[in-house]
Amino acid sequence: MSNDSTTAPIIELDDLHEHREIVTFMRRSSPLNTSQRSALEQYKYLILDHPTGDLRTYFTDPEKPLTVEIGFGMGRSLVLMAKNQPERNFLGIEVHIPGIAQCVYEAGEAEVHNLRVLDADAIQVLKDMPDESIDCIQLYFPDPWQKKRHFKRRFVAHERMELVERKLVLGGTFHAATDWEPYAEWMLDVLEHRPSLENLAGSGQSYPRPDWRPLTKFERRGLDAGHVINDFIFKKIK
Ligand SMILES: C[S@@+](CC[C@H](N)C(=O)[O-])C[C@H]1O[C@@H](n2cnc3c(N)ncnc32)[C@H](O)[C@@H]1O
Repeated sequence: MSNDSTTAPIIELDDLHEHREIVTFMRRSSPLNTSQRSALEQYKYLILDHPTGDLRTYFTDPEKPLTVEIGFGMGRSLVLMAKNQPERNFLGIEVHIPGIAQCVYEAGEAEVHNLRVLDADAIQVLKDMPDESIDCIQLYFPDPWQKKRHFKRRFVAHERMELVERKLVLGGTFHAATDWEPYAEWMLDVLEHRPSLENLAGSGQSYPRPDWRPLTKFERRGLDAGHVINDFIFKKIK
């Protein structure tokens, strides 16, 4: 690191305006390609633009059980899940615009009708949803926030799990997966101390990788780096 006073100061994440309130993401901008740009127009019906109230009402069949995915990235696995499970509705929440556009492009091309996406902080969206309205909340390969001073940004934390539990129906599930072993241990420690949740794999265990969870981009990256994948599925029991 240079001490040269002419170099631009290094701005710490915690000093950025957006990060004064603790958030679990960092917005990254990158240009959209042509198909992503046109998908945002062509398949507009897949995007919830400033929705209000109970988001189940934005689906063609609002009574179907709802799965919410937090941070779907480029969205391919979410589109596949929605296509493979037409008996459910899927709501994807992401802040990365090229990811949203790519997801909309793939869902539109695949004629998936039980999926809606929105650009928002998932925590705010969950807060606005009615209690006991979501059947499954999934969090695949969340940012691991490896530095100790950033641990507070990890999604899996007691205050955020309290919100997750409130929004799940009784018997609903929280499904997380990570390729970062220290975060896996952290997740297990938080989740097993939640009295309303039961580990469906048995105490202290991770869940065998479900074949209905398609491979994600970050999972592929983790596997290529030799990382071990851990899935956790916890059921709301009270
Ligand atoms: C490491 S990426 C994983 C993406 C994808 N799930 C995968 O496995 O390829 C984590 C994603 O979560 C998103 N994210 C993190 N916190 C979020 C939040 N509170 N609301 C919406 N998206 C969030 C980030 O923008 C990022 O795209």
